[in-house]
Amino acid sequence: MLPTARVTGTLVLSVLTAVLGSLQFGYNIGVINAPQQIIEQEYNATWMHRYSEPIPHSALTTLWSLSVAIFSIGGMLSSFCMGIISEWLGRYGNSMLINNLLAFIGAGLMAMSKLCQSFEMMILGRFTIGAYCGLASGLVPMYVGEIAPTSLRGALGTLHQLAIVTGILIAQILGLESLLGDKDLWPVLMGLTVVPTVLQMALLPFCPESPRFLFIVRCQEHHAKSGLRRLTGRMEVSDELAEMKEEKRRMDMERKVSIPELFRSPLYRQPIVIAILLQLSQQLSGVNAIFYYSTSIFQKAGVEKPIYATIGAGVVNCAFTVVSLFLVERMGRRTLHMLGLCGMCICAVVMTMALALLDSVPSMSYVSMLAIFGFVAFFEVGPGPIPWFFVAELFSQGPRPAAMAIAGFSNWTANFVIGMFFPYIAHLSGPYVFLIFAALLLFFLIFTFFRVPETRGKTFDQIAASFHLPARTNMDLDMDMDLGKPSTELDYLG
Ligand code: GLC
Repeated sequence: MLPTARVTGTLVLSVLTAVLGSLQFGYNIGVINAPQQIIEQEYNATWMHRYSEPIPHSALTTLWSLSVAIFSIGGMLSSFCMGIISEWLGRYGNSMLINNLLAFIGAGLMAMSKLCQSFEMMILGRFTIGAYCGLASGLVPMYVGEIAPTSLRGALGTLHQLAIVTGILIAQILGLESLLGDKDLWPVLMGLTVVPTVLQMALLPFCPESPRFLFIVRCQEHHAKSGLRRLTGRMEVSDELAEMKEEKRRMDMERKVSIPELFRSPLYRQPIVIAILLQLSQQLSGVNAIFYYSTSIFQKAGVEKPIYATIGAGVVNCAFTVVSLFLVERMGRRTLHMLGLCGMCICAVVMTMALALLDSVPSMSYVSMLAIFGFVAFFEVGPGPIPWFFVAELFSQGPRPAAMAIAGFSNWTANFVIGMFFPYIAHLSGPYVFLIFAALLLFFLIFTFFRVPETRGKTFDQIAASFHLPARTNMDLDMDMDLGKPSTELDYLG
């Protein structure tokens, strides 16, 4: 039988060090919301200085949308390269070091843009930091998924999202005008993004590379073993190694999986479609419409102090990610994801009704604010954290990097679409804009019900095997799991 998973100091340190990258990701999502007007004034001053006239409204809108949305373009491009980088430099140390270089460059460009009177530097900085976040959004869940014991994989995977939401909240608070969101200090707000980077650089040397990667991809049994010993706190790691050997044996039989093959091969088609749709369900749920534009949404909903309501949404966001952390290993990924999608759909409908009735019933502003909080809370129960680590769970070592690249790319593309086009769609549809998200949420709910399997408590091998048995339903597989039928029953996924 399996040794019980122990949470060792090395495991905690490695996961915490990794999720500093996620914290940085969240910080850069949230940081641009509050100081918008101040930075726009700065763009105007630069324009005046260069052309001796105030910036035309259309040029300012374009420069600002570009500053917001180019972040996701950086993310799209780098997440696509994630597969190659993680195979070449490993899941962790070296990849993270290279990535941290991007963080320094991005932060430097943004922080110096005021001094150099250059909005080009700000835009380029946002692109570079976006590229950092794209890589981190793939590397962190992959590394954490590979070093986590099976029974804790969901809970530790959720820490990635918890760090993202904490980063968003920190940025929202620091961005208050009374703190760093004023005309002199906003460059500090932008530059502060290097703090987690410096901390991560200091801690990286104490964290082991993923033993699963070392053993399966690099064939370095000795190094993999010593990493496993540190992570498990036990000298005896033969069970874990045996499980990895089994995965390696299967992988050696597979050919190397390229991105086009993921779509062509019937073995991978189903899991890759699930991976993409889960990522789309996260982004097309509309959550970033709230995180990028909450202040103006709250304003339209008649909320008196929109900036505090935005911070309220950030607090709810963090609190419910913690709830998910405790539920994910008990209730399972599938159930929580469906619960989250269903709750978000209902909140979106309530929000629409409240916004539509706002003119005749002023107290509806409270209802719409509560509906937005509910929307965010349900997001964090499932659709927020789950897609990030679920993709790493769906694939074995061979196709995992390519699959993570595709999933990351889908996530960032949808993120870009929402960031760029939400204001236009909201302008066209008025109070009914969230009905579009409600319809999409319903679609993703139905898809999850019919297509997404439960992965809780299963080894990567067992999950991969479930897709090779098309005649059987997920329910059959769950029952098999309960009866202990599958052959590989080791509880450590390393
Ligand atoms: C997820 C999404 C991110 C979003 C955040 C909100 O991590 O990937 O785009 O902003 O959740 O909490």
